[in-house]
Amino acid sequence: MNDSSHLTIGLMSGTSLDGVDGVLAAFDGQAISATLAAAYVPFPAHLRADLMALQAAGPNEIEREALAANALAVHYADCVAQLLLQAGKTAADVRLVGVHGQTIRHRPELGFTRQTNNPALLAELCNIDVVADFRSRDVAAGGQGAPLVPAFHRAIFGDAAQSRVVVNIGGIANISILPASEDGAYGFDTGPGNALMDGWIHLHQQRAYDANGDWGASGQVHAGLLAQLRDEPFFRAPPPKSSGRDLFHLDWLQAALLRTGSALAPEDVQATLAMLTASTIADAIVAHAPLARQVYVCGGGAENAFLMRLLQRQLQGRASVQSTAVLGVAPQHVEALAFAWLARRFDLRLPGNLPAVTGARGLRVLGALYPA
Ligand SMILES: Nc1ncnc2c1ncn2[C@@H]1O[C@H](COP(=O)(O)OP(=O)(O)O)[C@@H](O)[C@H]1O
Ligand SMILES: [Mg+2]
Repeated sequence: MNDSSHLTIGLMSGTSLDGVDGVLAAFDGQAISATLAAAYVPFPAHLRADLMALQAAGPNEIEREALAANALAVHYADCVAQLLLQAGKTAADVRLVGVHGQTIRHRPELGFTRQTNNPALLAELCNIDVVADFRSRDVAAGGQGAPLVPAFHRAIFGDAAQSRVVVNIGGIANISILPASEDGAYGFDTGPGNALMDGWIHLHQQRAYDANGDWGASGQVHAGLLAQLRDEPFFRAPPPKSSGRDLFHLDWLQAALLRTGSALAPEDVQATLAMLTASTIADAIVAHAPLARQVYVCGGGAENAFLMRLLQRQLQGRASVQSTAVLGVAPQHVEALAFAWLARRFDLRLPGNLPAVTGARGLRVLGALYPA
């Protein structure tokens, strides 16, 4: 193997439906040795709307999914081109692209999860081997197919001397618990991350997200609504568990608002949604990682200062809350790096899942190859 065979690209587009994050990483054996480039390609409003519509049943889904998948592949290829340009590399220098695809349905209990994508088109457009569809094999083995990131979090953030928690706050939030010992890492989805806050501010202010959490910070947490939201059985269910927009959508919020029975100012609802995210994450940490004193946050939620303050307050006296940036990895790069790492695992035919996390029957090599 020459040097170039160790360069791998990771592409992640998550439940926020905001766009694609990409990284170009160099590997030394199984481990990431450097991040050579990072890029973000936002989705245009029409693609975002098409992907949002595919989250629920509707007419002519097969064709709409196929066309959205084609459009996604074009944006993924754009991200790859930006990464190559930034790093001064060509397609021939890169061994693999690992691409998550866009989750449009997640039903492990029915035996499937669907990350839509057209990896064949991506391979055609960027002329690099593509590894895609990382979750299906874990679901086929009886697992949730999610979260897949705890194994990666352990590899880059685990510490032999102290137990740590990594929280990824994307559209949905998930935690990875990394005990001081080498093994025993596990994790699960805690519930909503930014998705409901994004949906609510879009409804009321036509903005994609609550920058810095300022709008939510201008409101008051409503205890009655918070209690209605937290009444959801998902929060009480034991892990393994995973979730998505299938459950946490605006209709779910509207139903809780109706049950609450009082008219609330929109900014108070936003403050309450931030508290829902913070309190369900904090409760999961207290219940499952009582020894952890360090909590590191990644994903776009790390940029929401109001949310970070609430999380710190909920964990007061138990653990510090910091961005993964203090560990040397920018919070918005972590998940894309995870898919570069998973692609590298595939390349080495090493398993990518943790059965204790997903509930799968065993370790599995994850992904499917589309040669250039
Ligand atoms: N400056 C910011 N202030 C507040 N929230 C932000 C900011 N930047 C990003 N976010 C939030 O992060 C989300 C994107 O996070 P991301 O990690 O990409 O999630 P996903 O993996 O679900 O796509 C946005 O939709 C928004 O809610
Ligand atoms: Mg995103």
